[in-house]
Amino acid sequence: MVTAYDFPTARLVDAAGVDCVLVGDSVAMVVAGRSSTIPATIEQMIYHGEIVSRGVERAFVVVDLPFPLQHLGVERAIEASARILKETGCQGVKLEGTAGQADVIAGIAGAGIPVMGHVGLRPQAVHQLGGYRMQRDHDRLMDDAKAAAAAGAFAVVLECIPQETAAAITESIAVPTIGIGAGVRCDGQVLVLHDMVGLSSDRVPRFVRRYADAGGAIRDAVSRWHADVVERRFPGSDETLG
Ligand code: KIV
Repeated sequence: MVTAYDFPTARLVDAAGVDCVLVGDSVAMVVAGRSSTIPATIEQMIYHGEIVSRGVERAFVVVDLPFPLQHLGVERAIEASARILKETGCQGVKLEGTAGQADVIAGIAGAGIPVMGHVGLRPQAVHQLGGYRMQRDHDRLMDDAKAAAAAGAFAVVLECIPQETAAAITESIAVPTIGIGAGVRCDGQVLVLHDMVGLSSDRVPRFVRRYADAGGAIRDAVSRWHADVVERRFPGSDETLG
């Protein structure tokens, strides 16, 4: 699974063959330059979700439920998830939560909406968790993941947890685990696209492996074009006439 937030990258990641495209609330950080995912709104998630769903032909598209909708009661969470599904054309939603949100997962799944859980480091709770740091309470993480799976989540994201805990959870629950900073013993992996291809402006987490320098490629292209314009090498006479 990998994130996408716009049409061209949705098409690219779909063509690359990933199983699942996540329209993460990380859009608030990597696209809008905010310092956390907390400011993401449902209107923004629907806006980006609809664009990405149109760009993806093959993969399963999941859109994040933004803070604090999973804490406002089962009915409001179902209403918001249904709105995301209807207005974006995506196939599922994801919500961050502990065992305390199991009733919300059950309600959304009961409404026929595929729902993915997200335990461990929950970026929407960054201030309560004391920063973007590894979560190490083995028993609590196990309880949270088991509760999400038992409530009907079709998969569970495990973010920033020790790999032994991730492996134990993966062996204990019947649905796929998708790790991010949780080691290799998960069923799948997820990364933020901008981190993976070198487009993030801020520091990226240590577990991210960079597969491209798209930021450098864009800076270089624009800088070469700028020099051509300043030196009057662009447009050439042929290009001027199309
Ligand atoms: O918002 C997001 O991009 C996410 C992934 C990091 C799992 O939730």
